[in-house]
Amino acid sequence: MIDQATKQRILDAAQIVEVVSDFVNLKKAGVNYKGLCPFHADKTPSLTVSPAKGLYKCFSCGNGGGVVKFVMEHEQMTYTEALKWLANKYHIEVHEREMTQEEKQEQSDKESMMVVSEWACQYFEDLLQNNVDGRAIGLAYLRSRGFRDDIIHKFRLGYSLADRYGLSNAARKKGFEERFLTATGVCYKMDDGRIHDRFYGRVIFPFFTISGRIVGFGGRKLDSRTKGVEQKYVNSPESPIYDKSRNLYGLYQAKQSIVRENRCLMVEGYTDVLSLHQSGIENVVASSGTALTTGQIQLLHRFTSNVTLLYDGDAAGIKASERGTDLLLQEGMNVKILILPQDEDPDSFCRKHSAQEVQEYIQNNQVDFIHFRINRMMKEIAGDPLRKSELIKAIIQSISLIPDEISRSVYIKESAHILNVDERILLKGVTDTRKAQRENKNKYNNAPQAPQAQPAEGPVPPVEDVPFPPEEQPPFPPEAGIQPVAPSIGNPFYETETLIMRELVLHGECKAAEGEDENGQAFGINVADLIYYYMEEDGISFHTLLYSRVLNEVRSKLQAEPDLRVEPYLLSHQDPTIANLAAELATERYTLSKIYATAESDAIPANEVNKELATRLIHLINDLKLKIVETELKETQKKLLDPSLRNDAEQLVAIMKKLQELVNLKKLLAKEAGDRVL
Ligand code: CTP
Ligand code: MN
Repeated sequence: MIDQATKQRILDAAQIVEVVSDFVNLKKAGVNYKGLCPFHADKTPSLTVSPAKGLYKCFSCGNGGGVVKFVMEHEQMTYTEALKWLANKYHIEVHEREMTQEEKQEQSDKESMMVVSEWACQYFEDLLQNNVDGRAIGLAYLRSRGFRDDIIHKFRLGYSLADRYGLSNAARKKGFEERFLTATGVCYKMDDGRIHDRFYGRVIFPFFTISGRIVGFGGRKLDSRTKGVEQKYVNSPESPIYDKSRNLYGLYQAKQSIVRENRCLMVEGYTDVLSLHQSGIENVVASSGTALTTGQIQLLHRFTSNVTLLYDGDAAGIKASERGTDLLLQEGMNVKILILPQDEDPDSFCRKHSAQEVQEYIQNNQVDFIHFRINRMMKEIAGDPLRKSELIKAIIQSISLIPDEISRSVYIKESAHILNVDERILLKGVTDTRKAQRENKNKYNNAPQAPQAQPAEGPVPPVEDVPFPPEEQPPFPPEAGIQPVAPSIGNPFYETETLIMRELVLHGECKAAEGEDENGQAFGINVADLIYYYMEEDGISFHTLLYSRVLNEVRSKLQAEPDLRVEPYLLSHQDPTIANLAAELATERYTLSKIYATAESDAIPANEVNKELATRLIHLINDLKLKIVETELKETQKKLLDPSLRNDAEQLVAIMKKLQELVNLKKLLAKEAGDRVL
């Protein structure tokens, strides 16, 4: 927790050109600087850094933002980590919130475990490189498997002597407390009270956190010994610093490449990761043989949404790929599958082929999970048409897991095509399955997950006590089982405004109309501006302050960076309230009414005027205006009932006039709404 004043000091001190220069070779170009973009494979310098604005922007891949964002993206840090990184660079002392005594204790225990783990890692590395037995047994083994020295160093591989008290004796000499040796699991206590090494006689594969600290180890028995009863691998037990379900082997070494390639390869074993690195493929992590967990997927999702599962070309490998897929889909990952030739795993495959061949094989053979699954099942059911419905059901099941509506509809289209069935059948199947899933969830959740309420910001409109007659229910009731993002109680405009905001989040940068300047030159009006102008025209603005704030920010951002894509920008917004809002709106939690759902599934090209989008927006804003007028009408009518008016003819006339105006306006708006053909 960094306090506000410190944060400000850091932001004041941080110079964008200086910070970017730590990683990129920048050259001055006019008032700005240019360099090769570190976020994609850049051949010509497309990264521009503006010292005046404090911003960086890549005009090729679109990545851009302020100095903190740059550090976050480049170093794959959280916001707080990036601030601390900058504080360190500019020698600013970070004031954090005071911790309680227990927190301090826990913190220092964890820190001690990290120190022990780091020491143990160095101890194992040293043995592998410098000890006679370490070299003759451990290093010789790794060399015999073809691992190069740079890979051995990169992954900090080590060796533990065949002496079961080797490490514990050395640790005692260094003065480490026994409790940290057992807490980290590098040693364990025997019945006789002696402390015993866990990994003796094994080659060591350390586990890193994403910032590169050591939290655990895997130890592999050498070949000659695998035949016995002992396990091939022994791994560190879970501990306060090592949570198996939130750690992916190799992520630390892979993260930058994952971001650069915007894809992560997923393999099973430690040695598979090493071999792929050796072949120049660095965006790879291992699930370590066990089933993937949600925690691991979420960790990975910080870096990319695209995963390719690389599995052995045997039946077990194919089975494993099926298991992994569902959870990945559920977490919103796009999944591809690559099956290696019969009897190969990534490690053996890499050893038999040149780096280039491996890279080409992966490039050419990864297939989308849905095609993979359909093809495989098609082969299985060939000659048995009755089993086709089974296949269709399985496909429906998988597609139903995908949280993103647009991806789902793309898959439905493609599957319908491959399976040669009517798209509507699949669509109905998916809709029904999702409904059933939701109902099941509600049934088993005693306390159904309440959607996160946005803090009700700003003044609630002065109409909360006007009872709305039943025929004036909001025209777009939320579908059963789906809750709006925030309660709309007390704010009759909430729902319509949220629908407008959804368009802003999803399509804010799209061209919705064209204008002409004084020279007759056409210029594009984006969705954000259209919303603003069309509301401004009648002097209205959002009743939820957060919405106004976001709209203003998006408009000015787009003015500065016309290529900005609003959705990812808002999703990774530094203000968590805004990021949450964007996430809520970008997912289907807030369903559109049927009539608006038409153009949803088609991605909208950025540079063409999108008439459908414009129509939808104007319709929505019109609807909002209509609601505001109706509300004002009610207010005004209420005023008429005030008894004091009887003696105030002037006031009465004014009110009547206002009423007439409002009625006319209402008619006009209603007509406009009616005229519009969707
Ligand atoms: N694994 C494990 N414990 C075991 C066996 C396997 O933790 N007793 C995990 C390891 O993470 C291992 C992965 O499962 O890397 C895959 O297992 P396997 O394919 O048997 O091992 P490889 O990594 O291929 O090791 P090697 O090539 O050295 O046999
Ligand atoms: Mn292997």
